[in-house]
Amino acid sequence: MTSRRVVLVTGASRGIGAETARILAARGDHVVLNYREKRSRAAKLAAEFIAAGGSASIAGADLTDAAAAGELVDGVVQEFGRVDVLVLNASGGLEIGAPEDYPMTVNRDAQLRLVRLALPHLPSGGRIVFVTSHQAHFHGRKPVPDAYLPIAASKRAGEDALRDLIPEFISRGIGFTVVSGDMIDGTIIVRLLHRRDPQAVSARTEHGPLPTVEEFAAAVADATTADAEPGHTVYVGGADYLVGH
Ligand SMILES: NC(=O)c1ccc[n+]([C@@H]2O[C@H](COP(=O)([O-])OP(=O)(O)OC[C@H]3O[C@@H](n4cnc5c(N)ncnc54)[C@H](OP(=O)(O)O)[C@@H]3O)[C@@H](O)[C@H]2O)c1
Repeated sequence: MTSRRVVLVTGASRGIGAETARILAARGDHVVLNYREKRSRAAKLAAEFIAAGGSASIAGADLTDAAAAGELVDGVVQEFGRVDVLVLNASGGLEIGAPEDYPMTVNRDAQLRLVRLALPHLPSGGRIVFVTSHQAHFHGRKPVPDAYLPIAASKRAGEDALRDLIPEFISRGIGFTVVSGDMIDGTIIVRLLHRRDPQAVSARTEHGPLPTVEEFAAAVADATTADAEPGHTVYVGGADYLVGH
């Protein structure tokens, strides 16, 4: 048991999830770094956070595996008695060779299942933060590059499915915030997209520099504490998306 907030960050072995966990650990939370397969990376990060004076542990689980997701939540609850904050950061869909329905499996179904599993263990005052991209959040209202379409559609479906739970979140006293970002500078997904569709990435950089991982992660970390209406969306970068919004 710990008196620190217990924050489970999914997909925290790299990228935005890792940076979010770093910020929250530095702010005094106990962070549980979930990873799918990059155990040694997650372990190295946790060791770094602890060496810097923070508190952290790691928990592997492929969130598309129902049993593994259940074990993830059970493990955190067994050790800490609760999950104060759930940061839904893990995402996928551009993996080579993945089945056609994989984006929906990981970005909608696995998110919803994890929330349902964690919900009984979130105390009143707890918080769920869903991390998404402008291309997904504005899907249906703004054009999306073809290569990103399955991710945009599935992440938007995941966001909608979670928004449908807002009445339940409210009745349990749990906050729910969506953090949406423009393409984030230097990330793997943007490098992949650039390889498949260079035009899609240059079209974004025409509007100015892309937000950095640090900027986006700070917004995600802030969303775990900031006062907000349930379902509030925080936007990071991409001012052109927000015109007329
Ligand atoms: N990159 C961008 O430009 C950008 C822009 C706006 C919003 N976002 C959002 O920010 C979030 C993080 O993006 P990122 O670019 O940092 O991602 P990333 O570098 O691709 O990292 C994805 C993370 O998710 C984990 N993961 C993937 N599939 C998983 C599964 N089935 N079960 C458990 N974990 C899984 C990975 O774990 P392993 O490495 O262990 O497999 C990894 O830690 C996503 O929600 C994304 O939509 C990203």
